Amino acid sequence: MNIVVINGTEVKGCTYHIKEFFLSELKDNNKIEEFYLPRDMPHFCKGCKVCFFEDENLCPHASDTMPIWNSILSADLLVFATPVYALRIPGQLKALLDHFSCHWMVHRPDRAMFSKRAVILTNSIGAPNKAAQKDIITSLTWMGVSDIKSLGCGLMEGVIWHELSEKRRQKIENRTIKMAKKYTKSKQGKKGIKVRFLFQMCKAMRRSMAKKEENPSADDLHWIKNGWL
Ligand SMILES: Cc1cc2nc3c(=O)[nH]c(=O)nc-3n(C[C@H](O)[C@H](O)[C@H](O)COP(=O)(O)O)c2cc1C
Repeated sequence: MNIVVINGTEVKGCTYHIKEFFLSELKDNNKIEEFYLPRDMPHFCKGCKVCFFEDENLCPHASDTMPIWNSILSADLLVFATPVYALRIPGQLKALLDHFSCHWMVHRPDRAMFSKRAVILTNSIGAPNKAAQKDIITSLTWMGVSDIKSLGCGLMEGVIWHELSEKRRQKIENRTIKMAKKYTKSKQGKKGIKVRFLFQMCKAMRRSMAKKEENPSADDLHWIKNGWL
């Protein structure tokens, strides 16, 4: 199984330890590729829209975004490990996901995304993790991923890993390993009802837009090439 890990922080702290617990169950027989943000993609989208109108390879940040995107495409399991910042995902992770919005089903979805599984590992000192997880779930769903599971950890006692009590660290480790055990076998994700519905809605919208356009857009050509229009 190919696994890609997107780390929402470069700090080797709580997020890092939780992610390492998760991967510890998956190290054998799997190829794991990791990216750390902002190190591996330190740019905000400039809003030039060249990805929408022409090609994502022409993005001014393509040398950073494309290796991550290609790694996502060749992965069976996508792992997002991130702290919660101000109740949401850190800006560096949002910046990466913004760059991938040209791959949303309203634009140019990649059929490889329909069968992927994704895991989101978040932590906060005590705030609910749901809104941050939702940021990632929203992006992945619109990219066509249905099989998405989340694990949120409340640190409660502080934000420095080695300052947490042994009991707290053990509890987090146990929960994370329990989740990782569900991913030891390679399995394809199934296209769920929500993704099916969104895809059909986008298809209807694209068909009606294509009729009105004099020249087919990059998005139209993508849908035609895939046999969807
Ligand atoms: C800028 C920043 C904002 C944060 N915002 C929140 C927050 O809104 N709620 C919360 O419970 N924890 C918050 N935290 C704590 C993180 O979610 C996380 O638990 C902590 O950074 C430990 O993870 P790390 O060692 O991987 O950085 C914040 C931390 C940082 C650095």
